[in-house]
Parts: sequence; C-alpha cells; structure tokens
Amino acid sequence: MNLTLVIGTRPNFVKMAAIVDELNRLIAVGEQWVYRLVHTGQHYDAAMSGDFMREIGLPDPDAFLGCGGGTQAEQTAAIMVAFERELLEYPSDMVVVVGDVTSTMACAITAKKLHIKVAHVEAGLRSFDRSMPEELNRILTDSISDLLFTSTRRASQQLMKEGIPARKIHFVGNVMIDTLKKFEPEFHPPQVWKELNLQPKGYLVLTLHRPRNVDQEQSLMEQLERIASEGTSPVIFPIHPRTKKNLDSNYLLPECIHLVEPLSYKSFNYLVKHAKGVITDSGGISEETSVMKVPCITLRPNTERPETVEWGTNELAGNEAQLVALLHTMEKGAWKAGQEIEGWDGRSAQELFNYMKRFG
Ligand code: UD1
Repeated sequence: MNLTLVIGTRPNFVKMAAIVDELNRLIAVGEQWVYRLVHTGQHYDAAMSGDFMREIGLPDPDAFLGCGGGTQAEQTAAIMVAFERELLEYPSDMVVVVGDVTSTMACAITAKKLHIKVAHVEAGLRSFDRSMPEELNRILTDSISDLLFTSTRRASQQLMKEGIPARKIHFVGNVMIDTLKKFEPEFHPPQVWKELNLQPKGYLVLTLHRPRNVDQEQSLMEQLERIASEGTSPVIFPIHPRTKKNLDSNYLLPECIHLVEPLSYKSFNYLVKHAKGVITDSGGISEETSVMKVPCITLRPNTERPETVEWGTNELAGNEAQLVALLHTMEKGAWKAGQEIEGWDGRSAQELFNYMKRFG
C-alpha cells in the first residue's frame, strides 16, 4: 500500500515516529509498503520541528508545505491548498493523520475530497467542549475517516455511539507511548538540570500553551503568580512559542519560575520523569506522566483523556481553588499512585499495521 503520512506539530511527530518505525521494520522484512512523509509546516521553529523530529528518528519529510502561523481559517486554508497539490502530484492509496491539530483535520478533508481513503490515529477522543479547536478537529476528522484507530476502549465506544460502523474502528492502544517506551533508556538531563543543581523529586515542571490559558496576558501572569505563591519547589517552565508571544518581555517572572526554551524530547521527558510533579494544559503530557507515574495537574476544566484521571496520575484543575488544593497535595507528596492503562504498552503501531494489512 502506498501511504501518505501527515505531520504538522510537535505531538504529531511523537505519534508518527512510532508509525514510521514500524513501517520501516515491515519494509525491511520484505513487505510491500511505500510511504511519503508530508510536513504541513504548522510548527516550524527548529526546536519545535526539525531538531525535535531528528532526535526521535523521523526522516526528513519528503515534502514541507510551509503553512505555519496565521488564524485558524488562514492556516486551514493554506494547508488544504498545499496538500491538495501534493496529493495530485503524488497519488496515494491512503492518507494517515494523527491527533487533533489543524493539520490533522485540514489534510483529512482534502484527501476525502480527492476520494482518497483516510486513517485517523487517536480517533474517538472527546472533551465535549466545542469551544476548543481540537474538539472540532476530532469530530470532523472522525466523521469522514475510513479507518479509526483508538487509544482507549472508551474512544471506540464513543465512535460507535456517533454511528460509525464497528468494522471501521480498531482499538490499538497509544502510539505516543510506543515512542516513550522506545526512548526512555536514552532520556538525559537538560542543561538547566546542572545550572540549577536540580535534584530528583525536588522541582516541578510547567507547560502552558492552550489559548484559554495563555492568550490573555493578564490571566497568564496571574496563573504564574498563583503557582509560584502556592508551591515551595522551583518550577521549570519550557516555554511554547505561543506563550512566549503573549508574555510581555518586560514582565518579571516570580523568582521560583525558571523559564527555558522548548526542550528536546529526551531531555524534556527526563525532566518530567524525575519531577515531583507536572502542571500542564497538554493532553499528551498527561498521558506520558500517567505512564511514568508522575503526579500531574492539568489546567483545564475538562479532558478528552479521562483515563489519565481514572487510571493514571492526572487531576483536573478547572479553577483557582482546585489548583491550590492540588498544588498542596503535590508538594506534600501525597498523590495517587496510578495504575496501568490498557494498550499503553509500546506495541500499538504493530497492532495498527496488523489491522491495516487486513484492511488493505
Ligand atoms: C497546536 C495545536 C494544539 C497542540 C499544540 C502542540 C491546533 C489548533 N493546535 O497549538 O492542539 O496541542 O500545537 O504544541 O492545531 N509558532 C512558532 N513557532 C513554531 C510553532 C508555532 O512561532 O514552531 C507560533 C505560531 O506562529 C502561532 C503560535 O505559535 O503564532 C501558535 O501556533 P499554532 O500551530 O497555531 O498552535 P499551537 O498553539 O502550537
């Protein structure tokens, strides 16, 4: 089968790395797969894109569409125009999209309009919060996909509730965790580890990038000050470009918050693995902390990944009171232990292709 694999943002790279790895393994044992890796360019800074991709073994993309920045509509439109051109020039049997970002949705729609089959990896997640662009991306992508690979059984059930035939849905587990397990032995401390003389379980990690948390400068600063005043540990804050753009360069961060540039995959996950806890608004990070059994506070009122709360180490803080209470529990080291989550075991990409072969 001739596949087109779509990537656009940092979390896409982590998921697609597992898929590319498995494809390369199948090709090496003589199976007939051909693939083209297409990068929409949604993320484009070296630390967020090229360097990050290389570190986790992704090859240079066969095509880079250069569609970064702009409003939601501008970005969607730019990706659709460029991806249509790509597919017309390089015909494909199936387009594989991952996750829930603008690139995922824009490329799925473009492919279907050209009558090309679409496989969506990480289908069926729902926060039921349609104010988030990701929720719209998930619903739109799932509704037109031909193959829907899910990371949880709940996601499969959700898709069936939405009327998607069971034969299109296949539970494979979490491909993001394939990559985590593969590279865990290679995690290494970032520079800030030495600079601040960090000690295992002696600091917190903070990441923020959701529009709701970072687009209003005043509330972003208040949030940072709240975290600083309630905690006792140093807080390492690798800053996302969106957050950086919204933070006045004259703003003096609270003393315990140490801002660093976006980190590489292996050094970021080293930092997370050894942290006392993580405060984040990323869904993917709450999955990784659950697997590494690191306490995690998600700064959102809802999640499309409830398993991380039910089975993993994640708790939601949707308001100030919840955040303060959770920070105290985290600082005391009195967090829930978390349990294994079915299918988050490092074998999801293999399972995905076992199924894809039968489909093809
Ligand atoms: C996107 C995804 C989000 C995902 C996140 C992971 C959508 C709607 N959002 O959010 O679901 O969790 O990626 O990081 O798809 N920018 C740079 N350099 C970069 C990348 C972005 O300067 O390498 C700037 C952009 O120009 C833009 C802002 O950061 O001004 C936001 O980037 P964008 O890709 O639109 O959304 P994210 O907030 O990164």
